[in-house]
Amino acid sequence: MLKDLFIGLSQNQFLNSTAKKYGLKMGAQSVVAGTNIEEAIKSIKELNAYGISCTVDNLGEFVFKEEEATAAKEQILNVIEAIHANKVDAHISLKPTQLGLDIDYYFCLNNLKEIVDRANVYDIFVNLDMEDYGHLKPSFDLLDELSMEYNNVGTVIQAYFFEAQENLEKYKNYRLRIVKGAYKEPEKYAYQEKREIDKNFIKLIEWHLLNGKFTSIATHDHRIINHVKEFVKKNDIPNDKFEFQMLYGFRKDLQLKLASEGYNFCTYVPFGNDWYGYFMRRLAERPQNLNLVAKQVFNK
Ligand code: FDA
Repeated sequence: MLKDLFIGLSQNQFLNSTAKKYGLKMGAQSVVAGTNIEEAIKSIKELNAYGISCTVDNLGEFVFKEEEATAAKEQILNVIEAIHANKVDAHISLKPTQLGLDIDYYFCLNNLKEIVDRANVYDIFVNLDMEDYGHLKPSFDLLDELSMEYNNVGTVIQAYFFEAQENLEKYKNYRLRIVKGAYKEPEKYAYQEKREIDKNFIKLIEWHLLNGKFTSIATHDHRIINHVKEFVKKNDIPNDKFEFQMLYGFRKDLQLKLASEGYNFCTYVPFGNDWYGYFMRRLAERPQNLNLVAKQVFNK
């Protein structure tokens, strides 16, 4: 119930646009690394100092106007320049809808090409984050077209989709981030039960570790992380074939522990004014994250 409520709130366009005007609120500052690139670079440098690399998300979604998508593209180009100028260990994560996928497919493709092209000059990887089912097919189409010209692109496989294994096999030669899946999806397309999603998640991770190019295992679930540690040991999978990923501000102790144990670790660093939808999805995933809100309210 709570999950559905927060997913609903995350998709409320009025609340999303209102929140932009008021800066980070409700505890979002613990999981969003500031509203501007300077603050984000500062956080990235701190994480890099622990041997942790970063993937940077200049937050944005629900873009229905060309000028907003163009502005988002310019901001992401600035992030690429900042990564290069500051010599930090970081790459880009972005959402196709932020760059106009809901406006026009080719408009979005051209925006993406500009970003991937600039990132390619500096040897920076670009990850296409995956959104809800309605955007799944066009997002893979974008990846197909981008990879005809560039090899610094990859994407995400969401374990709750019945078609995840098929997509994994099709894109096995890409650097892939494997996740459980964050959106509310229809029963027709996706597993609904946590047990089934976890089972498929493990199956996909194991398959890509054995057959794929590079696997980013993106989860805060210590049981799955421990399972992967055992699996790679048993199957002699070298550390340079995979990394663990977690979101900024979550389980920091575990992030540092994994990095100190010698595993490649990458923190997903979101920043920007468009924080509301991202923050609501984090509350949907784990209602305990409401503690962040409570602390903020009572610390006033
Ligand atoms: P889940 O929420 O299932 O929790 C499992 C268990 O782990 C909990 O019961 C608890 O024991 C422990 N746990 C979890 N969080 C904890 C915490 N904060 N503190 C203590 N214990 C905790 N989704 C998507 O659809 N598209 C995408 O592109 C991405 N990208 C992405 C990148 C990265 C880096 C991450 C980490 C996640 C995503 N996601 C995503 C989100 C993903 O699909 C999923 O919704 C969340 O990661 C939540 O699932 P988990 O596997 O983290 O654990």
